[in-house]
Amino acid sequence: MVDTERIFNYRVLGGLTGLFSIKNGLFEYPAYLRWAETEDGDRILDSGSAFGSIFFASRSYKNLDLISMDVNYRMSRSAKKVKKILDYFSQKNKRYVIGGSSSQIPLDDASVNRVIDHFALVYVQDRKKTLEEYRRVLKPNGILIVMPAENDIIEAADSIFGSVNIQQQKRDFLYPVALKIVKK
Ligand SMILES: C[S@@+](CC[C@H](N)C(=O)[O-])C[C@H]1O[C@@H](n2cnc3c(N)ncnc32)[C@H](O)[C@@H]1O
Repeated sequence: MVDTERIFNYRVLGGLTGLFSIKNGLFEYPAYLRWAETEDGDRILDSGSAFGSIFFASRSYKNLDLISMDVNYRMSRSAKKVKKILDYFSQKNKRYVIGGSSSQIPLDDASVNRVIDHFALVYVQDRKKTLEEYRRVLKPNGILIVMPAENDIIEAADSIFGSVNIQQQKRDFLYPVALKIVKK
């Protein structure tokens, strides 16, 4: 018997999520990378990356380490497929896919220059733990971009990072409140 619910959940919804991630990657992430003052040579963590949006965003860079991390196994599996295809066509930048939760990131202390969290932290219950993890993995002067940022995210970020720079909507961004935090 055909399992229509399963097909709908995994094929139709999964496909739509994939299209959104590609759209985000192509049209919004380049702006986030610029906003995060990304430079060639940087190592960047895309937390809650779904299908690997960060992989689509790096056309204007040659030498980034791009890490796509998601807690959902199916998302990471899809991101690996995207990585394989993009690796075949372009050797510019290195792409990595890791499974993991933002509340326990499987990366060393002070090992990344930038963290981008686009519509992931809003789904997390213990936001403080995730923000502490972002602080741990970021190098000094590393930059974290979080969007959207609800009030409790702003308060938690303020207590963990000392101060937050809240930027209102720019032309490039769809969402009204975003955080840009420079780790001291
Ligand atoms: C709305 S999607 C955003 C996808 C992507 N950032 C983008 O902009 O296209 C949210 C993603 O966050 C992931 N996620 C939720 N909680 C997470 C956590 N604690 N750690 C890592 N990923 C998480 C979900 O599995 C999902 O793929």
